[in-house]
Amino acid sequence: MLDTLEQLQNEAISEIESVDTVEGLESWRIAYLGSKGRLKGVMPLMKDVSREDKPAVGKRLNEVKKALEGAFETQKKGLSNVATPRPPLDITESGDPTALGRRHVISRTIDEITQVFSRMGFSVAYGPEVEDEYHNFNALNIPDDHPARDPIDNFFVDGGRMLRSQTSTVQIRVMEAVEPPIKIIAIGRVYRPDTHDATHFSMFHQCEGLFVAPKVSMVDLKSTLFQFAKAYFGEEAEVRFRPSFFPFTEPSAEVDMKMKIKGKWQWVEIGGCGLVDPDVFEQVGYDNEKWQGFAFGLGIERVAMLKYGIQDIRWLFENDARFLRQF
Ligand code: DAH
Repeated sequence: MLDTLEQLQNEAISEIESVDTVEGLESWRIAYLGSKGRLKGVMPLMKDVSREDKPAVGKRLNEVKKALEGAFETQKKGLSNVATPRPPLDITESGDPTALGRRHVISRTIDEITQVFSRMGFSVAYGPEVEDEYHNFNALNIPDDHPARDPIDNFFVDGGRMLRSQTSTVQIRVMEAVEPPIKIIAIGRVYRPDTHDATHFSMFHQCEGLFVAPKVSMVDLKSTLFQFAKAYFGEEAEVRFRPSFFPFTEPSAEVDMKMKIKGKWQWVEIGGCGLVDPDVFEQVGYDNEKWQGFAFGLGIERVAMLKYGIQDIRWLFENDARFLRQF
């Protein structure tokens, strides 16, 4: 009996040492310590042990049981360490605080302008920043020999394409896609190879507006921009048109708005506008007898710089958090 126990213990220990999976460990437990396991299997042999040997053999039986259980626990601990390795970072260490971000002043200005025009019933339209010359020029009544098409003044890319120089392209894209009535604004980036200085940057943003309906007049245009000025710059804001020329509007005007700058109300030029030229409607296949329209284009940077008293457009795009967190 003692020999049997000795042998059982040796086998069990040598076997468990090579167990390296949780499943393997469980099979070992069932094989040796389970209710039908080998340790239980030697119990019936006790009845053959003589009376005087019984205490010693019983004691030995207990020792073997303890040894197997101990080996099982030790191996289990080893395996669970492997299964759940400690994280390679010390989560008790105090970290560097992450600075709280905020929306860029241009993004916020875009949101604010969009909100004002939305309240007036304009929806938002989008167009591509990489455009073809047709949408940037021809469809807008800007002929091949027009000075605005000079390669010096535009970012042309391969395949007769270019980075759009104005958001007026979106007017055409929308009119090609849907039938009137139309009431949209399109806000986005435009590109011109200007030398950077306090008021020029090679990328900036415009807000385009287009309204197409029966019997649209300059009165509708001016009152829309007037309502915008009041909502955005305050109750005392005003709008003034100065006669001008754009190939895609007739008549055309420069838009000035009276706004408060450093506590004083002043006139500032912020864009262009006009009634959609009949040639443009013809390009997109609209009936000139049936539809009229107005259009306008406002410079976003200009609006934001005036509103917040920003003196240099370059500061907007340098990503200097010390500057940006002021707005
Ligand atoms: N696209 C013109 C520009 O970039 C601005 C403009 C003027 C837009 C008159 C218009 C408009 O829609 O009617 O200078």
